Amino acid sequence: MAIAGMSGAYGQAAARPTGTPPMGWNPWNAFRTEVTEAKILAVAQALKQTGLAEAGYRFIDVDDGWWLQRNAQHRLIVRTSMFPSAVMPDGTTSLRPFVDRLHSMGLLAGLYTDIGRNACSQAWDPQSPNLPQGSVAEREIGSMDHQAQDMRLIFGAWNFDAIKVDACGLADFGPDKPAVKNGTYRALGPYIVRGQVSADQTAKVEALYASLKREIDTVRPQHDTALAICTWGEADVVRWGNRYGTSWRTSPDIEPTWKSMLANFDTAAAHPELAGPGHFNDPDMLELGNGEFDADHLDAARAHLSLWAMLNAPLILGSDITRWSPALVAVAGNREVIALDQDPLARQAVVVERNGDGEVLLKSLQDGSRAVALVNRGDAPLHLSLPTSKLGLHGSLVTRDLWTHKEQPAGAAISADLLPRQTLLLRVREASGGKRQR
Ligand code: GLA
Repeated sequence: MAIAGMSGAYGQAAARPTGTPPMGWNPWNAFRTEVTEAKILAVAQALKQTGLAEAGYRFIDVDDGWWLQRNAQHRLIVRTSMFPSAVMPDGTTSLRPFVDRLHSMGLLAGLYTDIGRNACSQAWDPQSPNLPQGSVAEREIGSMDHQAQDMRLIFGAWNFDAIKVDACGLADFGPDKPAVKNGTYRALGPYIVRGQVSADQTAKVEALYASLKREIDTVRPQHDTALAICTWGEADVVRWGNRYGTSWRTSPDIEPTWKSMLANFDTAAAHPELAGPGHFNDPDMLELGNGEFDADHLDAARAHLSLWAMLNAPLILGSDITRWSPALVAVAGNREVIALDQDPLARQAVVVERNGDGEVLLKSLQDGSRAVALVNRGDAPLHLSLPTSKLGLHGSLVTRDLWTHKEQPAGAAISADLLPRQTLLLRVREASGGKRQR
C-alpha cells in the first residue's frame, strides 16, 4: 500500500494511505451539531484502545457545527465553546492544535464545509444551539467566493488531511425559502433541486467542486488529501464526481434502518464502473452500533459492513464508539472484511444476480482471488447459490468464510441457507497450481 505524507511507524506520524477508501469516524450520526472537542477526542482514544485505529479507522472527521462565523477579513472563526483548544493567545482561533493532537495519536483529521454560502444545519437544524452567529454575511460560512482562502486555512495553516464538502448551500437557500424571505439568509440558486435532476444546474455545481479541488491541490500539490463530495446523489454527480472526489455520495443521508441501508447500498452498487484506485462511490457512513445495526443485531451489522466492503466504500463509523461492546468492535474490526474494502485493485463488486430478496455480488481482488457475497435482503430465511463456473477461476477452489474464518473446498456451486438479513461473505481462491486470472 502506498503511503503519502510523513514517514515513520504507525502511531508516530500521520500518514495517509492513498488509493484505498478512507476509513475512520464522523460525529454526525452520533452527535449532530451537539458535538465537542472532548467527545471527539474520547472517540479517537476509544478507536486506539479498541484496536480499530490499528485496523484502519484513522480519519477523525469534524462535521457541521464547528464554525462560529466568517470575520470581516473573511476568515473562518472556530466555535471555541466546542473547540476550547482553538483559542489562540492573540485572540484568533485555530484548529491546528486539535489537528496536531490527532496527528500525534497517529490519526488523521477531516473537516467539513459547504460548496455554497451556507451549511446544511442552517437549513435543516434551525433549533440547533450551534448555528453560525452574527450578521447575514458573518453567517455565510460556506466556501463559495472564498475557496482559495478557506483551503489555505484548512489544508495549509490547520493541516487537515481531508474535507467533506456538502451542498445544502446550493439547494436550500432559494428565494422562496422562508428563512431567505425573512432576511435570515441571502438567496442563492437553487442550483440543486432535490429529486429533479432536470431542474439542476449541474454544470455550475460541477464547476464549483472542480475549482475547490484545484484550490486544495494548490495548497497540497503532493495530493495527500481526501475530498468527499456530498451532493447526496443529486446534480448528476455520478457523471462527474470521480473527476474531483476521492468519494462522492450517491444517496440521501443514511438512517439506522435496514431499509435505508439497502436503499443507499443500491445507489452505489448501480455504478461499479465509476470506482477505481483513489475514487469511490459513497453510500454514506456506516450505521454499525446504531438502531437496527446495534449490538442486538449483529447479523445485520455484519451484512452492512460486508456490503460496504464489497463496494470499496469509505468505511466511516458514525456511532459513539466509547459505548461499544466487544462484539461490535469485533464486527467493525474484522480485518479480512476490511481487506476487501482496502484491496489495492479497488475493483467494486458487481451484482451478478438479484432475485426477490436474494442478491449475489462478485468482486475481483488484486491477488487474483474473488470475493462473493450471498445476501439475504429479506426478513425470512432464504437459500442462495452461485455456480462456481461464474467466478472466472480455474481448477479446484477453496472458499474462506470471512466472518467465521473457516476454509473448505468449493464444489460446483457456492450455496447457503441464510438467516433473515444475513450475508455470507467468502473469499474464493484457486487451490495451489490453479492459473491466476483477474
Ligand atoms: C447533510 C449531510 C450529512 C451531514 C449533515 C450536516 O445532511 O448529508 O452527512 O453532514 O448535512 O448538517
